Amino acid sequence: MFKRYVERRIVTPGPTAVPPWVKAALLRETTNPDLDPQFFQEYKETVDMVKALVGAQRGEVYLWAGEAMLGLEAAVANAVKPGTKVLVVDNGVYGDGFADLVKMYGGEAIKMGLDWRQAADPSAVDRALEKNKDVEVVTLVHCDTPSTVYNELGEVAKAVSSHGALLIVDAVSSIGADEIKFDEWKIGVLIGGSQKALNAPPGLTIMALSKAALDRAAEVKRGGFYMNYFVWKEWLDKGLFPYTMPDVLIYAVKESLRRIFDEGLDSVYRRHRATRLAARRAIEAMGLEPYPRSVECTCPTATAFKPPTSPAALRDHIWKKYGVMLAGSWGPLEAELMRIGHMGVQASLDYLLSAVAALGLGLRDMGHEVDVGKALEAVLDAFGQ
Ligand SMILES: Cc1ncc(COP(=O)(O)O)c(C=O)c1O
Repeated sequence: MFKRYVERRIVTPGPTAVPPWVKAALLRETTNPDLDPQFFQEYKETVDMVKALVGAQRGEVYLWAGEAMLGLEAAVANAVKPGTKVLVVDNGVYGDGFADLVKMYGGEAIKMGLDWRQAADPSAVDRALEKNKDVEVVTLVHCDTPSTVYNELGEVAKAVSSHGALLIVDAVSSIGADEIKFDEWKIGVLIGGSQKALNAPPGLTIMALSKAALDRAAEVKRGGFYMNYFVWKEWLDKGLFPYTMPDVLIYAVKESLRRIFDEGLDSVYRRHRATRLAARRAIEAMGLEPYPRSVECTCPTATAFKPPTSPAALRDHIWKKYGVMLAGSWGPLEAELMRIGHMGVQASLDYLLSAVAALGLGLRDMGHEVDVGKALEAVLDAFGQ
């Protein structure tokens, strides 16, 4: 018996595969990020690249050491005070999860009670805000990774800004994979992470803040140090960081952004959409049911579907035998769903072919007769278009 793979492949929806150019950046000579002016310059250049990526020329952008959860919590902590009414666009695990954060900071979460398998209807958001005139903050997840349901951010943002509420957006799974126009869409706070479509290791949270978000934070007066926007501004204005930055992670994200701009944003976004279509067709060709109700309401970065067997057992089998890592899901969807991540470099023909082939073989090994050839053909057809 021969070994069935020579190289393991990560095809999960974050953390993702780390491509060679990002690995090379991680191996750069380290420095003392508190003292080295060259590092401070590179931090600022990375911030400028993020601003260009998400259209935040008028916003403040910070790159913080810490998981994206830090960004979500900071966004809520700096916008919510006891009694603040927050409309929670709750179609997904993270969408719904915002309600918990709101409650932890003393706010009143008004959940919309949405269907988790489809995009939030912007007109329903508009109606909810019409009905609840005292809502000051709205939370939304652009790509809800555990369910892979995608919301039309631009449209929802339009509805929110017409009511003058502050929009907090979790874009952890969309930054670098889908168009975001922070200033134009009047987004209040946008949160991203390093380990999804930017294909860097976990450890950085990206925060974009509008003037309205900073004004709101000044009013809320959360105080504290680690999540305090004003502490960051004060220190950066002096050419310093409030705490030690993981220099190599900044280099990694910078290199990833450089490659994204080299390819061109339009190409990057179209590549993710082509992969989304190809992944859905492959799943359907194997007779499996995708979780989002349509391809349009599926994240450009991941596709969830219902396997005919335990997701955990299937995932483990595929990893051990074929060296390809797919993901299950979690929270209320853990027992039900499997996911293929198509983020950054994984939004490509070769990664998707590996994922679909390994999935098909894994299902066959476990006694489920699926047409792997038809699924691979579906991928090739969709990419060939
Ligand atoms: C949509 C979304 N938001 C937030 C997070 C939290 O990110 P982290 O694990 O970096 O804290 C994740 C992680 O999977 C996510 O998928």
